[in-house]
Amino acid sequence: MPFDLETTDRLLSTTRAVRKRLDLEREVPAELIHDCIALSQQAPTGSNQQGWRWLVVTDADKKQALADWYRQAAGDYLAAGEAQARAAGHAQTGRVLESAKYLAERLQDVPVHVIPCIKGKLPSHAPASMQAGFYGSIFPAIWSFQLALRARGLGSVITSFHLAFADEAAKLLGIPEDVTQAALLPVAWTVGDEFKPAQRRPPQHITYWNRWKQPADAS
Ligand SMILES: Cc1cc2nc3c(=O)[nH]c(=O)nc-3n(C[C@H](O)[C@H](O)[C@H](O)COP(=O)(O)O)c2cc1C
Repeated sequence: MPFDLETTDRLLSTTRAVRKRLDLEREVPAELIHDCIALSQQAPTGSNQQGWRWLVVTDADKKQALADWYRQAAGDYLAAGEAQARAAGHAQTGRVLESAKYLAERLQDVPVHVIPCIKGKLPSHAPASMQAGFYGSIFPAIWSFQLALRARGLGSVITSFHLAFADEAAKLLGIPEDVTQAALLPVAWTVGDEFKPAQRRPPQHITYWNRWKQPADAS
């Protein structure tokens, strides 16, 4: 085996969306962020363009502005979504939304906001292949960054709400017009380092061999 599978699989299966267990008090060294970005730079990009750019925000006023926009965009969605999920009996989704609400209220207090960006802008009505190539050239790096954080005792969560105010955020942070923000990752040390794999459907229920079938036939 080229890798220790127990450790590798534990990292892959326990890198969760961390919100309630972000340590809001402990400082995150800049070096750690650079180390994780360095690892993320090994991720694939379309045509090997390597257009990733990372904006790291630690300034209190700037984090406050980002958090205010985040809440403005998230407010109604989170309130309605949680009630709907609980009413429909989707306990896992209900828990996620409750935790998302918790984060929304404290986002400004998370020590580091990391905004992964990608050079370029997607034209409206871009064909599917262009959309795949564009966002597919930043999200693998985002996930590598999150895995690297987790391996070092830090946590994060991909968030997208502030993107409703991407233009305002770009102005605040001096992000050029030809650069696209892909997400906002609140980053902190985690409180404890034990995380469990989430419950997911068996892979046979979501995997089709040679021909698409109804889930019932695929078991
Ligand atoms: C593209 C994308 C956008 C997301 N946006 C948000 C967000 O705005 N706020 C949030 O709290 N979580 C957000 N999430 C996190 C998801 O809720 C989370 O990945 C999912 O619930 C699984 O959580 P788990 O990994 O802990 O099982 C986003 C995830 C993805 C992949």
